[in-house]
Amino acid sequence: MRLRDARALLALRPPALSRIGRSARDDVTVADLRRRALRYWPRGVKGYVEGGADGELSLRVNREAFASYRWVHRALVDVSRVDTGTEILGRHTPVPLALAPTAYTRMMHPDGECAVARGARDAGVPYTLSTMATTRLEEVARVAGGADLWFQLYVWRDRSLMHDLIERARAAGYRALLLTVDTPVVGNRVRDFRTGFVLPPRLTPGVLLDMAWHPDWSLRMLAGEPITFANFAREVSADPQSLMHFAARQFDPSVTWDDLAEVRRRWPGRLLVKGLADPGDAVRAYDVGADAVVLSNHGGRQLDRSVAPIDQVRAVRDAIGQDRELLVDSGVRTGGDVALALALGADAVLVGRAYLYGLGAAGQAGVSAAVRILGGELQRTMALLGVRTVAELRASGSDLIASS
Ligand SMILES: Cc1cc2nc3c(=O)[nH]c(=O)nc-3n(C[C@H](O)[C@H](O)[C@H](O)COP(=O)(O)O)c2cc1C
Repeated sequence: MRLRDARALLALRPPALSRIGRSARDDVTVADLRRRALRYWPRGVKGYVEGGADGELSLRVNREAFASYRWVHRALVDVSRVDTGTEILGRHTPVPLALAPTAYTRMMHPDGECAVARGARDAGVPYTLSTMATTRLEEVARVAGGADLWFQLYVWRDRSLMHDLIERARAAGYRALLLTVDTPVVGNRVRDFRTGFVLPPRLTPGVLLDMAWHPDWSLRMLAGEPITFANFAREVSADPQSLMHFAARQFDPSVTWDDLAEVRRRWPGRLLVKGLADPGDAVRAYDVGADAVVLSNHGGRQLDRSVAPIDQVRAVRDAIGQDRELLVDSGVRTGGDVALALALGADAVLVGRAYLYGLGAAGQAGVSAAVRILGGELQRTMALLGVRTVAELRASGSDLIASS
C-alpha cells in the first residue's frame, strides 16, 4: 500500500477539548457514559450512585434478570419505519421512559436537578424530582419551562410538611405526583458507611485526598452553592448534624394504605405509586386511586434479596388487566432492556442510574444523550424483532420471548 492510500484510510479527528465534547464524540452506550462519570466522581459519590443495600443481591439480580430473557424475532417484516413514541400518563413521549427521582443530584454535577430537568425537556421525556433534591422544586420548575415534571413524595412523619410539599408541587405546575412506598426505613447502604458519604460531605483526610484526585469535581463543587435538602430550607440548616438528623427522623415506618388514600384525596393530578412487587398490592393501589404503578426495588437500594421487578411484570399485568398503566424500573441500562419490559407487559420504564451517568459524564447534554442512546437502541431492537410500534411490541410481546 502506498503512503497516499494509507493516508486516505486514516480517520484523524480533531481533538475534543471539553468533557462534553469528548462524551458527545465517543460515548455510544450508557456503559460509556458510566465509565466517564466514574472517572469524574470521587469515591463517595461513586459508591452512593453505584451501591445497593446490604449484600447487594437485589442490585446484582436486577441486571441478571434482564440478561436471562431471549428473543424470538419475526422475519421479513417491513421495518423501514419504526416509531418508539408512546403516551405516558396521557402525554406523548418519543421513547417509553421517564427519569426516576434521585436524591442529592448536585453531588453528581454542580448543575444537578436543573441540568436533569433541562436534559429531560430536550429529550422530550418526563423527569421526577426527588423530595430529597438539592435544588428547590420551584427553582427546577422555573428553569425547565416546557419539561414534563413529576414530583416524588415520601410519607413524612411530619404529615403537615408532606401536605405542604404536595401543595407546593401543585402550585409550581408539577403534572404528576409519584409516591415512593418501599422506604418505611432507609436501606442499609453499606458502601456509604465505608466511604463516609454524608450530606454535605465531611472533609476527613481520606475525603480530602480523594478530592485532590478529582480536582475537576472538587473545584466545581467548592464553587457552587452549599449542598442541602433544598425543599426544606426552613426546617434544616446546611449543618451536617441537622441534615442527617432531619432525614433519619422523617422516614415513617408506620405508613400504610390509608396514607396512600390521603395523598390521593389531596393531589388532584396524576398519581403514581413506586416500589411495589406484589400483584395483589398493585391491584390494591389502583383500587385506592393510583393512575399508574411502578414495579421497583429502588434500584437494589432498599430490601436486599428482593425479586427483580422485571420478573414481576407478567404476573402483575395478568392481575391488573390490559388497561391499567404499568411502569417498571431497576436495572434498565439499554434500549433492549426497555423493549423487554414492554414485551413483558409494561407500558414504560423509569431509569435512574442511566441518566445519572450521563449527568456525571457531560451535564445536561449527557442526560439527553443517555435518553437518545436508549431510544436509538430501542428503535434498532424493534426493527430487528420485526415490530414497528410500541403498541405492536406490547401486543405481540409474549410471542417474541422464548419460553424458558
Ligand atoms: C443515587 C440514587 C438516588 C435515589 N434517590 C431516590 C429518591 O430520592 N427517591 C426515590 O423514590 N427513589 C430514589 N432512587 C431510586 C430510583 O428512583 C429508581 O427506583 C432506581 O434508580 C431504578 O434503578 P436503576 O438505577 O437501576 O435505573 C435513587 C436511586 C439512585 C441510584
